[in-house]
Amino acid sequence: MNKRNAELTFKPNLRLGRHGWLRLTPAYSVKLVNDFLDQHPEVRRVLEPFCGTGTTALVCAQRGIACDALEINPFLVWLARAKTTNYPIAELKTTRSIASDAARCAGAMTQTRVWTPPIANIERWWREDRLLFLARLRQSILDRCPTESKTYDLLMVAFCRLLIECSNATFNHQSMSFKQEQAGLFDSQESSVLARRYTQIADEIISSAEEPIPGHARIERGDARHTPAGDAPYDAIITSPPYPNRMSYIRELRPYMYWMGFLSEAREAAELDWQAIGGTWGAATSRLQTWTPNGEAIHVDGFNDMIQCITRHSALLANYVHKYFVDISQHLASARDALAPGASVFYVVGNSKFYDTLVPVETLYAEILERLGFVNVAITPLRKRNSKKELLEFAVSGRKPG
Ligand SMILES: C[S@@+](CC[C@H](N)C(=O)[O-])C[C@H]1O[C@@H](n2cnc3c(N)ncnc32)[C@H](O)[C@@H]1O
Repeated sequence: MNKRNAELTFKPNLRLGRHGWLRLTPAYSVKLVNDFLDQHPEVRRVLEPFCGTGTTALVCAQRGIACDALEINPFLVWLARAKTTNYPIAELKTTRSIASDAARCAGAMTQTRVWTPPIANIERWWREDRLLFLARLRQSILDRCPTESKTYDLLMVAFCRLLIECSNATFNHQSMSFKQEQAGLFDSQESSVLARRYTQIADEIISSAEEPIPGHARIERGDARHTPAGDAPYDAIITSPPYPNRMSYIRELRPYMYWMGFLSEAREAAELDWQAIGGTWGAATSRLQTWTPNGEAIHVDGFNDMIQCITRHSALLANYVHKYFVDISQHLASARDALAPGASVFYVVGNSKFYDTLVPVETLYAEILERLGFVNVAITPLRKRNSKKELLEFAVSGRKPG
């Protein structure tokens, strides 16, 4: 495997209507979900235990397939619900005119005492004039529609797009940095540029919201370690869980979450990262120092040796990897019980490397699935993840005995 296969990443999703509403790295490829469903025409009820931005849920709903999805992050629950909802055309017409009215009024507002989110060092994120425009725009949207409305959802998705477009932050896969900005044009010029851009983004989002969605996606906040049984057993799991690569989804999502009111202080972000599988940011790191498996063993040959090898360099990272697999084993066991006999599973996972120890994530998933009684378990390499030749993405698939 030496191909990067960009068509199997989230990038092509950006051109696919609702899938492209926000550019977030947790997303995986629409093509992977469609290919799986093409090969399994019998699937009518899907479980997506790690919903993220809602890729699986939206593809299923677009194909008329029922999908229940779980997600631990409340912002992603909100976003995935907004992406999978049907919007009546008359409501979209009103939303379009509210969008341009809100942008125009925000541009003309002179009020300087407007709410801004409690983000530490906010001036690093947005130049002063842009921050003021964003704050006025948010206020202007809130003045025009209730927060529990489809109009609010669409206008805030557009707002999220704008806030990241005009921020100084640059997101790479695992890191984030701030661009150095020169002083702004300031005053009305900058705000009219932003007002125009907001109207453009909102127009684009509202146009793609016109697409009728034939299937029903039910997206709930929940923990995949305790997968609830649905109304009826599922025919398939299609998902991409977090990988044990120390990527924190909260880090990237923080700016949206503060603006949307899902976070009000740093402590909450750290707490959410600790609840997330593979989370490692802020206080989550110090909690890992004292974590113990508490009798939860991973019965896979070579697992303990691998943990020992990582421990030689870092007991913290060894705990990180160990906890990841304890969490994933809990998830897989609970998910099995929610599946119908004969159901298929499809997990897109990436391996990782700590010092000189390769963590064969795909093999570990496959072995845990086999231990849980799944049959026809197979590993398919999908693509190279970055310039390191040994870091790959795989599909791990299998079937619950019928
Ligand atoms: C790789 S992303 C999923 C991406 C998704 N397929 C998409 O296209 O957007 C993994 C997701 O799992 C979520 N997550 C982490 N721990 C979880 C848990 N215990 N229960 C449910 N969701 C969890 C994270 O918040 C993240 O959104």
